[in-house]
Amino acid sequence: MPEEVLEQAREEMLDWHGSGMSVMEMSHRGKEFMSIADKAESALRELANIPTNYKVLFLQGGASSQFAVVPMNLLGGNAQADYVHTGQWSRKAASEADQYCSVHITATSEQDGFNSVPPLEQWHISPGTAYVHYTPNETIGGVEFQWTPDLSAAPGGNIPLVADMSSNFLSRPFDVSKFGLIYAGAQKNVGPAGLVIVIIREDLLAIPPLPGTPTMYRYKTHADHASMYNTPPTYAIYIMGLVMEWLKKQGGLAAIEQRNIAKAKLIYDLIDASSFYHCPVSRSDRSRMNVPFTLSDFGLDETFLKQAQAHGLLQLKGHRSVGGMRASIYNAMPLEGVQTLVTFMREFEKNHV
Ligand SMILES: Cc1ncc(COP(=O)(O)O)c(C=O)c1O
Repeated sequence: MPEEVLEQAREEMLDWHGSGMSVMEMSHRGKEFMSIADKAESALRELANIPTNYKVLFLQGGASSQFAVVPMNLLGGNAQADYVHTGQWSRKAASEADQYCSVHITATSEQDGFNSVPPLEQWHISPGTAYVHYTPNETIGGVEFQWTPDLSAAPGGNIPLVADMSSNFLSRPFDVSKFGLIYAGAQKNVGPAGLVIVIIREDLLAIPPLPGTPTMYRYKTHADHASMYNTPPTYAIYIMGLVMEWLKKQGGLAAIEQRNIAKAKLIYDLIDASSFYHCPVSRSDRSRMNVPFTLSDFGLDETFLKQAQAHGLLQLKGHRSVGGMRASIYNAMPLEGVQTLVTFMREFEKNHV
């Protein structure tokens, strides 16, 4: 979270703009909260340049719920959906979808241990598929697409592209018009956990959901009620609005992208110049958000983490499924934070080779 945002939230915690209420105490249908939600959505639309034929939905249930909600809503009459398999999150999305349809793996990077992304030439989109799902940033593996797939030339044409943008949403400019649907859990670049943002092209709302799809899991329910069908995650939406204003102040997505490039480069350059640290991900597909690395001597992992913590460098332990380290350097991580990490890593290497 950007520190400025946390400070503003603290200032406004007990009495939002003289309303006599905390945002947490407001009715979601009252004029105060409606203005907060409207402003948050407008700022997001402006930042991401979202075309008018796309709806923005504020939902709950985490990105993990979307793994089921996407097939429930987009399969229509199709029995098949395509998934690009690049790591743990895309695997989870595909295996959840497998309960509702036949999943066809369009492409995978399994053969190289999920350390790259499969180039578009290797994608085999199945004819008659309902949509193609991919994960632009694999948070655990640290693998990121540096390009947006253009499906317009795919057989059948006009297949909706669906993206789980949870971990690189708003970290760079992206062309919404290339997507049928984008979803992102808020907790990386947008705000606190508890909010999921869905951006959906309006024509997809006409697809009849699978029979038995609960009302709350129908995109149309939320689109028809401007995300106010039930009580939305109000405080998370409020914080999201503050983060959007912060992003605008940083210069928008093009400026934040430059900052993210510079931050990631600092760590990758250090790793590549060293035989003490190692990053397994192919250079062209490395994530700007999540930098996984290992030490040449695994026996030093615990010491590294302990000493890092003593330097104020927290949460560097890699995901439990892969081990090693992972530096997650989302939008709000300042360049100075990354510089501190790099200085520490250099010192640690000097003291342990
Ligand atoms: C790419 C990606 N997808 C999905 C998820 C799951 O999100 P949630 O915990 O909000 O369900 C995560 C969480 O880290 C993620 O990084």
